[in-house]
Amino acid sequence: MYRDQIEAAKEQFGKLLEKQLKRVELMKTQGDFADYKTLDKIIIGVCGGDGIGPAITAQAQRVLEYLLKDEIEKGRIEFRVINGLTIEGRAAAMKAIPDEVLAEIKACDVILKGPTTTPRKGDKWPNVESANVAMRKELDLFANMRPVRIPEQGIDWTFYRENTEGGYAAGKEGINVTEDLGIDFTVVTSQGCERIIRAAFEFARANKKTRVTAVTKANIVKTTDGKFLDTFYAIAKEYPDITVDDWYIDIMTAKLLDENRRRDFQVVVLPNLYGDIITDEAAELQGGVGTAGSANIGKKYAMFEAIHGSAPRMVEEGREIYADPCSMIRAGAMLLSHIGYQEEAERLYKALDVCTVTEKRLVMTGRSNGATGEEFADYIMENL
Ligand code: IPM
Ligand code: MG
Repeated sequence: MYRDQIEAAKEQFGKLLEKQLKRVELMKTQGDFADYKTLDKIIIGVCGGDGIGPAITAQAQRVLEYLLKDEIEKGRIEFRVINGLTIEGRAAAMKAIPDEVLAEIKACDVILKGPTTTPRKGDKWPNVESANVAMRKELDLFANMRPVRIPEQGIDWTFYRENTEGGYAAGKEGINVTEDLGIDFTVVTSQGCERIIRAAFEFARANKKTRVTAVTKANIVKTTDGKFLDTFYAIAKEYPDITVDDWYIDIMTAKLLDENRRRDFQVVVLPNLYGDIITDEAAELQGGVGTAGSANIGKKYAMFEAIHGSAPRMVEEGREIYADPCSMIRAGAMLLSHIGYQEEAERLYKALDVCTVTEKRLVMTGRSNGATGEEFADYIMENL
């Protein structure tokens, strides 16, 4: 029964295995992280993206240019605006990232990226892959670092989400074996686990964090989550000064709300899809997904973005000038710290704190009864 369908599915599966094994070989040859200190010049590519993206990204760029004024004059830093990472451009090229845009991106060292529209079933766009996911794969940005801080509640979490594997690696390569049977794949590799887990421990060590927590569903998803968890405990042995524990994803979503537990978590490392889910929950606790920034770090490239979407409705209603640029400015602060401008990053974080928590002279409502993104960026710059 179903002989032909099974053969066709096996062939498709074989191709997927070949592709993933090639990726393993590539990972084996990967060197160390880029050392920005040794670069004469750092090129920051700016991709505005879709919807409110260009508006809020431009404000973040203004703030960064203000902070880096001397470095820009000296020629150490260059900002390069990259147009074309828009849903229209991507739909026309029928590619998640058009070739010429990808080439421009790859000529930069780091990228500041606004939100991009991800087509979904039923909307007017062709089914091109998410630009985020494509960029993470193309630039091999395996570590997605998402800090969540709620100082008044004593919460300081840093999530290290694996960014290239899990349910995302072959997300568009699932197989409809028959009309009734659909199969998707979760991909995990030793190299992929090792590099994200090591990155989380290195971050913990460098930032004097005392606990690293792994989150999986290894009791059920035994092979892939099992490998992740085994790798976690193997690597933990190299960091005897750091306390480790692990939780299953379901109870972890509850524990982030548990008054007796939530403050214990410091650095959390987890596979791609669990990281996607739990970082939205965590960001919501901080004040909404609009407040969070995210760093996508690879060995050669890094990309910094907001974790929210492109809010096309705001643009349709002509409200993009009122969109809150905080998430992108926060992403900008992470970018500064990543390329070695720690002091400037600290100043920016402090200004963000003043403008969004302690003083809050301007309020963003997303509408004309609130401040514009430009006014808010000015407010931040006044506080630098
Ligand atoms: C995120 C987003 C993306 C993801 C989407 C836009 C593809 O939700 O960065 O968390 O699923 O990773
Ligand atoms: Mg998400």
